Amino acid sequence: MTKLTIAQLLKETKLQEVEVKGWVRTFRAKRFIALNDGSTLNNIQCVVDFENTPEDTLKRITTGAAVAIKGELVESQGKGQSVEVVVSSIEILGDSDPETYPIQPKKHSFEFLRENAHLRTRTSTFSAVMRLRSALSFAIHKYFNDNGFYYMHTPIITGSDAEGAGEMFKVSTLDQKNPPLTEDGEIDHTKNFFGKDTNLTVSGQLEAETYAMSLGKVYTFGPTFRAENSNTSRHLSEFWMIEPEVAFMDLAGNMDLAEDFMKSVITYILENNAEDLEFLDKRLADEEKTKPQAERSELSLIEKLKFVTENNFKRVSYTEAIDILKNSKPNKKKKFNYIIEEWGADLQSEHERFLVEKHFKCPVILFDYPANIKAFYMRLNEDGKTVRAMDILFPGIGEMVGGSQREERLDVLKEKMAVLDIPEEELWWYLDLRKYGTAVHSGFGLGFERLVMFATGMSNIRDVIPYPRTPQNAEF
Ligand code: 4AD
Ligand code: MG
Repeated sequence: MTKLTIAQLLKETKLQEVEVKGWVRTFRAKRFIALNDGSTLNNIQCVVDFENTPEDTLKRITTGAAVAIKGELVESQGKGQSVEVVVSSIEILGDSDPETYPIQPKKHSFEFLRENAHLRTRTSTFSAVMRLRSALSFAIHKYFNDNGFYYMHTPIITGSDAEGAGEMFKVSTLDQKNPPLTEDGEIDHTKNFFGKDTNLTVSGQLEAETYAMSLGKVYTFGPTFRAENSNTSRHLSEFWMIEPEVAFMDLAGNMDLAEDFMKSVITYILENNAEDLEFLDKRLADEEKTKPQAERSELSLIEKLKFVTENNFKRVSYTEAIDILKNSKPNKKKKFNYIIEEWGADLQSEHERFLVEKHFKCPVILFDYPANIKAFYMRLNEDGKTVRAMDILFPGIGEMVGGSQREERLDVLKEKMAVLDIPEEELWWYLDLRKYGTAVHSGFGLGFERLVMFATGMSNIRDVIPYPRTPQNAEF
């Protein structure tokens, strides 16, 4: 007897005896089980001979129950599937009480499913999203592997604040009520586990730079942590970030890499995950229909993905963007919450969305930002006031990528750190890179969940990661 997944069975043309295990999605007319095992969006129909099946067994075929079925794979009599299983024996592996099982075959709100995140991948939407998340991860590793990058694991516990934004979770084993004290009565941090204060990493970039400056082309892909109190549909306290870092590459090369990379991984899912994408495309279309006409997207999900792979990202300097924003309707009519008055203003998400969604209507790479609104490590331009930074903005998402050419000149970097009060002792190893064989190098960070949001058309970041961590929430 062949043991195949439901995905494989549904492609079979050879009629045969089969065994299949999965969870019951629905059981109709005491006869038709729609069975799913996670291998595909689609269920296999298993036809039960109810007249010759004990009533007790029939009662236990309920939504959510785990069952093992043996039977004959035959051409389907009904519509909607090519093959089905004529059941010869069915074993209930695990019951599912219909009175209490939360995932009944009806429409559940995403909020409800978030509270039941341990079961939500038993729905079509979440299984499709999580299969795509997995496929995108694979496509990312494949892209870098195909292009000569090494995958490096950067530490999760660090002593530095890579972004200098102070949004860190502390890692400490000190007794919080009775911390050890120094002679001066201050907390004695040398008694902490690592002999100093540490935190969960906000980015693997600084360590990735050290490896780029020896292995040439590297990337990290791991969890990062931000203790920022942002309760939005685009922020998580724990998210996964992809960070390539490349020696001898300048900002223009960095933009080329980011664009090629994003096009490549999106092409991968278009070619390999059509079934799940088509389902999510339809789901989004249904959701769009509930919105007022003016708010509806002009493109379907799949059209949006193809648009990205087929068109060049628009490259716009910060200075040009400020001019566009200053002269924009919402700015003149004071519709923005933050009115853009002069060069140097930090861009809020409302401005980013205006640029990508209303003005350019395509992904936009903004570059050469004012130095004082960006991180300390970015390469200062010859004008002395802008840095070689880039942000990639996506319609519906906002900032997807943040990156830069790195400051490779020791004196300029030290000066910047002094101004920002970043202690040299903490980053002595980072400064060493500028002392020994320094060179132009660049990299970027892509927020994985924001990419998954874009690829699946989901509008809340909590719905594209298995167990979201957000302020006031760390369930599961
Ligand atoms: O712009 P960010 O903060 O850049 C860095 O961390 C750099 N060290 C990256 C580098 O150059 N290697 O973060 C990069 C990306 C953002 O563009 C966004 O997509 C995502 O990470 N991101 C978040 N995603 C979800 N939740 C959050 N709280 C996020 N903060 C940033
Ligand atoms: Mg950023």
